[in-house]
Amino acid sequence: MSKRILSIWCLLGLAVFSDQRSTPADDSYVAAAVEYQVSADVEQNLQNYVQLIKEAAEQLTLTRGSRSVNVPMYDLLKTQPIPALLPLAYDELLVGISTAARNHQIYVLINVQEFMDCNTVPEGSEEYCPEKKEYLRTPALKPDLGLFTTDFGVTFGHYICFDLMFQVPAIQVVEKNQITDVLFSTMWFSEMPYLSAVQIQEAYAYAENVNFIGAGANNVRVGSAGSGIYSGKAGALVSTMPGLPTTRLLVSRVPKVPGNVTGMSYPGPIYDNPADHDSLVLITDPSLPDHISRPLVNGFQEFTLVDKDVSCRFRVRLNQREGVQVESHKYRAFVQDGSNTYSRRQVGVAACLVVACKNNDSKTCAYRFGKNETHIEIKELEIEMSTLRNQYNKTLQCDNVVYFPSSFRINKFPLSPVNYTYSESSQNEIETGELPKTNGREKIMYKINAPQDELMSFAIWGRIYVRDVDHNTEVTEEDVQNYLNIEDIIYGTKRNKD
Ligand SMILES: *[C@@H]1O[C@H](CO)[C@@H](O)[C@H](O)[C@H]1NC(C)=O
Ligand SMILES: *[C@@H]1O[C@H](CO)[C@@H](O)[C@H](O)[C@H]1NC(C)=O
Ligand SMILES: *[C@@H]1O[C@H](CO)[C@@H](O)[C@H](O)[C@H]1NC(C)=O
Ligand SMILES: *[C@@H]1O[C@H](CO)[C@@H](O)[C@H](O)[C@H]1NC(C)=O
Ligand SMILES: *[C@@H]1O[C@H](CO)[C@@H](O)[C@H](O)[C@H]1NC(C)=O
Repeated sequence: MSKRILSIWCLLGLAVFSDQRSTPADDSYVAAAVEYQVSADVEQNLQNYVQLIKEAAEQLTLTRGSRSVNVPMYDLLKTQPIPALLPLAYDELLVGISTAARNHQIYVLINVQEFMDCNTVPEGSEEYCPEKKEYLRTPALKPDLGLFTTDFGVTFGHYICFDLMFQVPAIQVVEKNQITDVLFSTMWFSEMPYLSAVQIQEAYAYAENVNFIGAGANNVRVGSAGSGIYSGKAGALVSTMPGLPTTRLLVSRVPKVPGNVTGMSYPGPIYDNPADHDSLVLITDPSLPDHISRPLVNGFQEFTLVDKDVSCRFRVRLNQREGVQVESHKYRAFVQDGSNTYSRRQVGVAACLVVACKNNDSKTCAYRFGKNETHIEIKELEIEMSTLRNQYNKTLQCDNVVYFPSSFRINKFPLSPVNYTYSESSQNEIETGELPKTNGREKIMYKINAPQDELMSFAIWGRIYVRDVDHNTEVTEEDVQNYLNIEDIIYGTKRNKD
């Protein structure tokens, strides 16, 4: 099995968001997210953050962090929670950020790797202190739902990185607390065809119908990039997926009702300059060729692929442009009912997919073709999925199954919601008060609204959380080594390999 690094420890990440002037009566607030190019120089990072906080406050927020920081979670932080007011007792980084946030009157969310001294936790205390304190990594050792309320009347849920993949906390924090706003800081390693950074952030905001402010650490050489601010079914208010090393502040006004963007102007996706060489490394799900699939042909076709309990009906019309001499990419349809494994975490997946491949061989999927290779126009594309119905988990107070409309274009952004239609039929039944049957079927329809020639993948991607199995029993030597290798690449450091 090839190495998959999607779940890597979330080292750094500082997310900031804010609004100086919003009040509980306002319909919106202003948020910011920073795509931040990672550096090993903590001093430099701090200066950059303070500068970014200032810029964010001026425009009206977010970014990332440093190496390990001492966070006195179990004593000082409880009684004296403002580092700016007790500068000698806190780490310089916390003091610097706290001071900048106070000076500019904005809320800042910061994600740091912390050291914890478990010896200070009193005997018999309810506090949780991990025995292995060298690394705190996601998914959270003991899942914890992060929440805080602001003076402008919005309650935010927050989590980091790989936690986005799991029912606890990503689904539970929203549904149990019925919140509409989520902050997320990450170092995300994009994977085609379902899990590139902006693609999954935008799909999550759509499926959970929340405002989502996501800040990514930027290191294109390891495939880490992608940040944005998304508003429910309206898609990206602003997003970036840069192919070159980048630090960039993203700012947008955000409606308090997710998706209510009528009359509001916002930047939308920030596309790369076509003249820039795109250096972002994108890996592909190595299990893709193992799934049931069928190549698509020029012209119209309609067929169904079935894997266990999932059935996908595809209606597709492809138009290979005439007069094109070169052999172009091919599309292929897939169905999957099973699971994928990331860092020994097995995650339940049910999916229907159409994806571009280099040729007829399923091993050449996914293929990110070039702008000069857009010889196939997809005139029609509709997927109808008949699949496992959601069950509500009364203990967790959230869904056990969630489906996401997921797409990826060769410019690294998903389709804008204006260019697709997505519907889940069991939702209607819930709204009309009819109780869903636990073993019933769910029907989902996903189609394009306009012809597309830059579409690389188009999928209904479902997470069946009840199938998840964590095969991690302990942190192995290999895990530590993988982690150190990534740190070396990111920080440009060299460690003695033996
Ligand atoms: C949507 O936003 C507008 C302001 O842009 C506001 O007047 C309206 O009340 C909002 N709708 C809802 C349902 O909150
Ligand atoms: C690819 O597959 C299609 C459909 O099976 C077939 O018509 C076509 O000839 C194949 N092309 C190549 C290069 O194998
Ligand atoms: C498209 O352009 C890239 C360079 O940008 C080149 O490597 C590739 O061969 C081109 N493909 C075709 C089909 O012309
Ligand atoms: C709810 O979720 C928990 C944790 O994943 C799981 O153990 C339990 O079986 C679920 N309950 C239902 C009714 O699905
Ligand atoms: C929708 O798709 C068309 C291509 O068919 C494209 O020209 C247009 O820019 C897309 N709209 C948005 C908002 O992305």
